[in-house]
Amino acid sequence: MEQEMNRPRIIVTGGAGFIGSHTAVALSEAGYRPVIIDDLRNSHESVISSMEDILQSPLEWHRVDCGDKAGMSAVFSEPVAGAIHFAADKAVGESVANPEKYFDNNIGGTARFVSLLREHNVPHLVFSSSCTVYGEAQQLPVTESAPLLPAASPYGFTKQACEFLLQSTHAAAEGKLGMAILRYFNPVGAHPSAKIGELPLGPPSNLVPFLTQAVSGLRGPLTVFGDDYPTPDGTCIRDYLHVCDLAEAHVAALKWLEKNPSSIDTFNLGTGKGTSVKEVVASFQRSTGLQVPHQMGARRPGDVAAIYADPSKATQQLGWTSKRTLDTCLADAWRWQKQMGAE
Ligand code: UD1
Repeated sequence: MEQEMNRPRIIVTGGAGFIGSHTAVALSEAGYRPVIIDDLRNSHESVISSMEDILQSPLEWHRVDCGDKAGMSAVFSEPVAGAIHFAADKAVGESVANPEKYFDNNIGGTARFVSLLREHNVPHLVFSSSCTVYGEAQQLPVTESAPLLPAASPYGFTKQACEFLLQSTHAAAEGKLGMAILRYFNPVGAHPSAKIGELPLGPPSNLVPFLTQAVSGLRGPLTVFGDDYPTPDGTCIRDYLHVCDLAEAHVAALKWLEKNPSSIDTFNLGTGKGTSVKEVVASFQRSTGLQVPHQMGARRPGDVAAIYADPSKATQQLGWTSKRTLDTCLADAWRWQKQMGAE
């Protein structure tokens, strides 16, 4: 127990969410003490006990909005060595229908949380950004120095705005708050134990959870959104990476901040490999032996034709690289779907 108390305490906002839960597990395995902050508006309490089951040890968690100053005071009553900020809304379509929600929760929530970090002298922040900040990138693979093009959705704009907010806060904090801004490409898969994974509330809008639900019979066939794009097979290209690889990148980013305490830098997190929607379907069929019921459909508004990462900066500076294959991602996503059953 004493050993546990000596571990650096790291706040993980959105720690019951998809990427947050996998990251909390990776942090604990790397010798940190994750402190889960989640008000469960978009996640389930059962995720906490599933994480504890994987780790075989209890986790500190607080059911609170990370921007709630009074509610967060208990979290800061013990020293905090760093924070990873995931808590945000991420449905592109919903952000178009309800932009105010996205501005308030994603931008306002980040501003409120960061001011708490400054007030309590927390030295390190890792931020959850997205490749969406690049829009329709002109050059592939995309590097961190690519221009940020006008956002295609309010969601995308909130990620750009948060990056700008953090750059400004970093300058204002005069070296007291180091930051790593991580631009994720497409996180997929699930923990190999199948105890945690993606838990979309309602019909999923992302490809892999829709696909696994279609295979399990929970949904009708998967619609491939467009096969007339200027790509080799006509379907959109993305860079899919395993959520456990992504989780490990957050540990690497914290270690980078420990060595570069007053820095701020931005890192692409992807595999470097572009995969089309049709290739995802083929990979799923190959790795599970199951057919994916699917049909071709119209393009989805707001989709870019192709984007994939140049992750070499993360490799060089963070010492991180993605290790798991797409077949592994999809086999793990399927194992997770199966254990959830038809509910
Ligand atoms: C987008 C954002 C990403 C963000 C994520 C949050 C971009 C480039 N990416 O991911 O930054 O974090 O939303 O939700 O803006 N597809 C189908 N049928 C489906 C669902 C998806 O064909 O039923 C296709 C899409 O057209 C796309 C690919 O699958 O080509 C991946 O889609 P999705 O999983 O929704 O992720 P992005 O839109 O790439």
